[in-house]
Amino acid sequence: MSSRAGASPRRALVTGGAAGIGFACAERLAATGVRVTIADLRGADEAAARLDGADAWQVDLTEVTALEGLALEYDILVNNAGMQNVAPVQEFDPAAWRRMHQLMVEAPFLLIRACLPHMYARGFGRIINVSSVHGLRASAFKSAYVSAKHALEGLSKVVALEGGPHGVTSNCVNPGYVRTALVENQIADQARIHGLAEGEVLSSIMLKEAAVKRLVEPAEVAGLVEFLASDAAGMMSGGHYTMDGGWSAR
Ligand SMILES: NC(=O)c1ccc[n+]([C@@H]2O[C@H](COP(=O)([O-])OP(=O)(O)OC[C@H]3O[C@@H](n4cnc5c(N)ncnc54)[C@H](O)[C@@H]3O)[C@@H](O)[C@H]2O)c1
Repeated sequence: MSSRAGASPRRALVTGGAAGIGFACAERLAATGVRVTIADLRGADEAAARLDGADAWQVDLTEVTALEGLALEYDILVNNAGMQNVAPVQEFDPAAWRRMHQLMVEAPFLLIRACLPHMYARGFGRIINVSSVHGLRASAFKSAYVSAKHALEGLSKVVALEGGPHGVTSNCVNPGYVRTALVENQIADQARIHGLAEGEVLSSIMLKEAAVKRLVEPAEVAGLVEFLASDAAGMMSGGHYTMDGGWSAR
């Protein structure tokens, strides 16, 4: 992307870009010459300072009404910010359920909505939605997460259809369990809810369905995101790209 002779650098917004998969994506895009803005609830300034020329936007993306009036000038949007809560449906806190849908469905919708006019005017855009294997498959105790990621898949496909004539692609990436804080933080919850020792959660729950028995690395997801953001991926739209060690082959 950096070799577009004479052209100004492309600009990317990466939500949840201060940590985990988001930071890996921001780092990878910045390395290819993209000017990145890191949007995050916390740590955006510190993360941006680690990347040459990156900008920071400290924002709580669950405050969705504040996103309604935005007009954003980005060429690449990585909808990555996410959170997890595990509980049986009958015990799931309705406020937490709603917050997860705000962060992982409403905010992506509103940010896409804010970015499309600029992308359409430029005749180029890349929307990359960090979904999950849980955008394609269900797991018990994850009603908010699974339903939010399934909704994100639908949103992504509609944007692909509308954006195609304007040079805008929209895709989901679908990792299995990735080595980040989001996973580390749910090991204790998963152990409690499944009645297992914490040490058993990785093999008995997280890696049970995968053929490749290891966690995905954030840099591996970032490599896929970088490719989907590139000119070479212009015909890839409306799809989902799994990186789940074979989980969804079942
Ligand atoms: N880790 C996994 O195993 C895994 C697997 C599949 C998909 N994903 C998805 O990847 C994405 C990133 O997950 P991760 O594992 O890197 O998580 P993470 O917890 O390491 O990072 C998430 C980032 O989102 C930010 N964030 C959380 N709430 C926010 C809010 N209200 N406003 C703005 N920013 C907010 C956090 O501050 C954090 O920097 C999520 O959408 C997640 O669902 C993760």
